[in-house]
Amino acid sequence: MSQDFKRRTIVNWLLGGGVIAWLSAIFFPVLKYLQPPSIPEAVVSSVKAATVNELANNSSKIFKFGNKPGLLIKTPAGEWRAFTAICTHLDCIVQYRDDLEHIWCACHNGHYDLQGRNISGPPPRPLEEYDVNIQGKDVYVSKRT
Ligand code: FES
Repeated sequence: MSQDFKRRTIVNWLLGGGVIAWLSAIFFPVLKYLQPPSIPEAVVSSVKAATVNELANNSSKIFKFGNKPGLLIKTPAGEWRAFTAICTHLDCIVQYRDDLEHIWCACHNGHYDLQGRNISGPPPRPLEEYDVNIQGKDVYVSKRT
């Protein structure tokens, strides 16, 4: 009786394991097929952000730098500046305020000057600044190396 019970237990374990292996063999490839592949983020080091005539003095534009927003500014003096548009406080999108003539974050009233330095409010550090190059009629923004 006890010997019969042990055999039955072993057979049950083997059958259970076989069923689990069979289900895994079916569902694992299906789940792997349904899961999107991880695609590494393309490294963007330079983008065309605007054309020269697109911005008047004392205006700005948000552009796409890879998968992140950038802020291109033409200062009141006509100089080009570019920064990441992500606030260093809690990652809100910053904007250029032509009335204040500097960069402002609406989330918690953070202010940055035209060099990207945090001048008031909660932002703990300056914005990352990009290089701006004019090539013909195009304005290119690139990461500093
Ligand atoms: S997220 Fe910009 S000031 Fe808080």
